[in-house]
Amino acid sequence: MLILNKTAGVFSKPSKRKVYEFLRSFNIYPGTQFLHKLVLGIETSCDDTAAAVVDETGNVLGEAIHSQTEVHLKTGGIIPPVAQQLHRENIQRIVQEALSASRIFPSELSAIATTIKPGLALSLGVGLSFSLQLVDQLKKPFIPIHHMEAHALTIRLTNKVEFPFLVLLISGGHCLLALVRGVSDFLLLGKSLDIAPGDMLDKVARRLSLIRHPECSTMSGGKAVEHLAKQGNRFNFDIKPPLQRAKNCDFSFSGLQHVIDKIIMQKEKEEGIEKGQILSSAADIAAAVQHTAACHIAKRTHRAILFCKQRNLLSQSNAVLVVSGGVASNLYIRKALEIVTNATQCTLLCPPPRLCTDNGIMIAWNGIERLRAGLGILHNIEGVRYEPKCPLGVDISKEVGEAAIKVPRLKMKI
Ligand code: KG4
Ligand code: ZN
Repeated sequence: MLILNKTAGVFSKPSKRKVYEFLRSFNIYPGTQFLHKLVLGIETSCDDTAAAVVDETGNVLGEAIHSQTEVHLKTGGIIPPVAQQLHRENIQRIVQEALSASRIFPSELSAIATTIKPGLALSLGVGLSFSLQLVDQLKKPFIPIHHMEAHALTIRLTNKVEFPFLVLLISGGHCLLALVRGVSDFLLLGKSLDIAPGDMLDKVARRLSLIRHPECSTMSGGKAVEHLAKQGNRFNFDIKPPLQRAKNCDFSFSGLQHVIDKIIMQKEKEEGIEKGQILSSAADIAAAVQHTAACHIAKRTHRAILFCKQRNLLSQSNAVLVVSGGVASNLYIRKALEIVTNATQCTLLCPPPRLCTDNGIMIAWNGIERLRAGLGILHNIEGVRYEPKCPLGVDISKEVGEAAIKVPRLKMKI
């Protein structure tokens, strides 16, 4: 059983749950007034089948996850019908495991929360139809979850962070900057105009055949690039960061990917090797692409901080920047962001790596946040649909661009 306690004081003062368990061991049921609210969260928006039970105070009572990464690494990317089939094969077991680990009766749940947007249609569909059946059987309220909202709010489970704060979500499928003003109150400041940084790093890693590299064969593309970059020299290539002239907070990574493609082709010619073999300059290329991506991400984030401060949307001296998503586990990119937060007197916070990537805990926690705020709790599930595409909050990226804030140059000595 997995129990994560947020407060260290739990040993000196037993939690309500411990009291409840203790009473239950004597067959004494204290009734619901003793219980925290409990939410089961279910996530299937992409390639992870995940579930968790979380209580109102942020205790994770049970968790289970099935990752499809290995399968998709072999096929060179996610094939939606394959992802759907794997979700179908695993969802019941994963939800059962999370519930068993939590040692609660399903009847004790306050609600079931499930990702319904955005994501891969075929994957979202599996989680939603399973959840609706469960909701119907257990007669519990249903809380539909926006996947990005869940990523953004995760930090409030691990740290005491008040609204408003700035969030940067960077992963294989997401790339956005948003101001979080409340549980479901977001201002979208910028997003990727094409692909996400993790997707770009995955494509570069695939083009460099890093899966054949003895040190990287089991790593995701982004992790492989980070690993190899440590052995490389970024100065061997001079690559311009994307969107240098656009004074907004949008991102772009496909141009960078094409530049890297050209460099790889050139190097293959020079080294006289075939596509699919590993270049001797692979580490230098990894270092250069990682540095360019880090500078691009840092600059857009810097502008977002300045914009929010200029408009008094964020505190002048106590602002918080939260970074999450799979790419947030990249320490080089984190250091680039640290340079920005140091220069702007902000605090940089990242959830632990296992909460940065897709998981059931963030969905359950989003359910708790919504339950506490009384937002979006459905007692009638008729007409609930999944939405593969769905923006986050109010899009003010045009206004951000019109402000055309010039970002002071920072030395990116990482
Ligand atoms: O959040 P996540 O698990 O799934 C979604 O994309 O939603 O993120 C996975 C992405 C992949 O593109 C992977 O290559 C990237 O995060 N990633 C990294 C690192 N670890 C995972 N990118 C850069 N550096 C890493 N250390
Ligand atoms: Zn995600």
